[in-house]
Amino acid sequence: MSKCFAFGAIILVFCCHFSYFCICCVLVASEQFSGWNSSSVKSGRSPLQSLQENEQLEQSAVQATLQGRRELLEETCRTHTHKRRVLSPEDLRHLIVDDKHKLLYCYVPKVACTNWKRVLMVLTGDGHYREPLAIPANEAHIVGNLRSLSEYSTAEINQRLRTYLKFVFVREPFERLVSAYRNKFTRSYNTAFHKRYGTKIIQRHRADPQAEALEKGNDVSFEEFVYYLVDPQTQKEEPFNEHWERVHSLCHPCLIHYDVVGKYETLVQDSRYILKLAGAEEEVKFPAMSKSTRTTGDMTAKFFDNISPFYQKKLFNLYRMDFLLFNYSVPAYLKLR
Ligand SMILES: *[C@@H]1O[C@H](CO)[C@@H](O)[C@H](O)[C@H]1NC(C)=O
Ligand SMILES: *[C@@H]1O[C@H](CO)[C@@H](O)[C@H](O)[C@H]1NC(C)=O
Repeated sequence: MSKCFAFGAIILVFCCHFSYFCICCVLVASEQFSGWNSSSVKSGRSPLQSLQENEQLEQSAVQATLQGRRELLEETCRTHTHKRRVLSPEDLRHLIVDDKHKLLYCYVPKVACTNWKRVLMVLTGDGHYREPLAIPANEAHIVGNLRSLSEYSTAEINQRLRTYLKFVFVREPFERLVSAYRNKFTRSYNTAFHKRYGTKIIQRHRADPQAEALEKGNDVSFEEFVYYLVDPQTQKEEPFNEHWERVHSLCHPCLIHYDVVGKYETLVQDSRYILKLAGAEEEVKFPAMSKSTRTTGDMTAKFFDNISPFYQKKLFNLYRMDFLLFNYSVPAYLKLR
């Protein structure tokens, strides 16, 4: 069964209902919203309502930027995806729920997700935590410390997708990829990744590997990592690990209509804006970026020096949707022709 209906003849509110979930994109304002008066809006409005209200009032530069990003995303989805797929609970695994502040955050590894998880632990922790950076990173990643949208019933999922502020943070795709490579394959402590992925990569993509390399998997080169990513066999066997899986596949931005698309490049400003919408500015401050080991664009360009144009092109095609959907331009260092 499939039916589409628009409610309230108001700007771009559509809702497709197939067999699973009703994903509504309340882009600008719902009928309900336009009927509100300011007194009821002021008291206890949700972050989504605040966003909608802000967008009808005079816009700040941050708001205008965010609205531009969201419209570009919608437009790119419209022109680049043909068939509408239905979401399953499995697709919602990366969405973290804050029922108190009515937030849905899709976490993308290597895009400040540890800090966002820490912030959400403060927000949902009933006073257990106060200072995000006091929460050990590994604790922020323990399944069960935060709730995923996939754990809820269909009705609860639909209600949250409709009424909560949905946001995601993205990053230049190749910078994110190099960051994942450096973190998982060049740090000696990441033995789990070396064993799980490194050994396989070396076995398949290195000519004449040493026995020790095959055993430990701890010296994968970026080139070998790229061969692994573009090898069709890799994704036939299992989905990519979340650290290098595309945002498109982790967060389904063409099916879940995010209200705010934050960027790593403007992390502090975008995060502050979301916390303000949530009325949580007093409760928690988003931690300022401090890491000096951070992967930069220049560093990323160096890693691509060793990759032949043939493989650069294959890799670009693999991550192409993330470039397009989030308005990242083709890196100048690539040799695509
Ligand atoms: C605004 O909403 C409140 C609560 O819904 C209602 O009591 C009040 O009469 C409304 N005021 C106006 C001017 O519509
Ligand atoms: C897309 O990126 C270009 C180049 O960086 C920028 O000038 C433009 O404002 C961006 N568009 C949107 C909608 O963010």
